[in-house]
Amino acid sequence: MRHLLDTQTLSKDLALRILDVAEDMADTQSREVKKLPTLRGKTVVNLFFEDSTRTRISFEAAAKRLSADVINFAAKGSSVSKGESLKDTAQTLQAMGADAVVIRHSASGAPRTLATSGWISAGVVNAGDGTHEHPTQALLDAFTIRKRRFGADSRGKDLAGVRVVIVGDVLHSRVARSNVWLLTTLGAEVVLVTPPTLIPQNISGWPVRVLYDLDEALAERLDAVMMLRIQLERMHAAFFPSEREYSRRWGLDPARLERLTGDSIVLHPGPMNRGLEISADAADSPRSTVLEQVANGVSVRMAVMYLLLAGERMDDAMGSGQEQ
Ligand code: CP
Repeated sequence: MRHLLDTQTLSKDLALRILDVAEDMADTQSREVKKLPTLRGKTVVNLFFEDSTRTRISFEAAAKRLSADVINFAAKGSSVSKGESLKDTAQTLQAMGADAVVIRHSASGAPRTLATSGWISAGVVNAGDGTHEHPTQALLDAFTIRKRRFGADSRGKDLAGVRVVIVGDVLHSRVARSNVWLLTTLGAEVVLVTPPTLIPQNISGWPVRVLYDLDEALAERLDAVMMLRIQLERMHAAFFPSEREYSRRWGLDPARLERLTGDSIVLHPGPMNRGLEISADAADSPRSTVLEQVANGVSVRMAVMYLLLAGERMDDAMGSGQEQ
């Protein structure tokens, strides 16, 4: 059984394979071939213990476009509120015939636990675990950057020579972690820009440069700027400058947007705090790829489901951390 648990252990070969298959999936969608028969007879369970709009709906759309059956589980309103464990919940869903489980959980490591515990035999896909990783978000971000750079000629291309600036609440961001690993695996240079209180203590092994001044980062050449959501729900007051201060120093406001040059793009994983980390002008500008990211997410998740559940095996290209 194979899984997609993180990007830290994802090989470059497999990352490119997923992005290339996603290109094929995007092509079928653009040709109005809305539904492929590939996963007929397979069942995908969306097991969401945390709220989600984009990721859950995107996985559901991806599975349905491949003709899989989809069971949506939300912890709210389920027997989790009566104390049912992750193991019992997962085994209950497995008994209903799950071939793949897409899990979002507040606990970092919950997807790996599910994949390696022996509780279930289904493939496991991490849809965001605590502050650890969100691998399909990073894959769709990389897909979006590559598509904007190479257009229809994207297949097989890595991100060598691309400079990406990731701005904001790195401390709580699984999106930032997954992007750091994936983008650098693909050859990009990554610069983190963050308030000193919102960077993890131990990042000595991260292949990144850290700056604390957004204007300094914007003065350099860059191809993409990724604004992170300020995760107020995970935040202790001591971490955070005031919202006004944050917006003034680290927000992508109209003046900073004006300073972007060439074909550089603005990414945000959503949901956005408009007026805090990103202004409405930036979110809605032609440089913004926010809605492209959402659309690309369906293609990327179709590719992940296809590689996980269809005939082609991920075995050889899969990094060791992706296997049990
Ligand atoms: N980007 C992202 O994970 O969004 P949702 O929380 O809406 O799924």
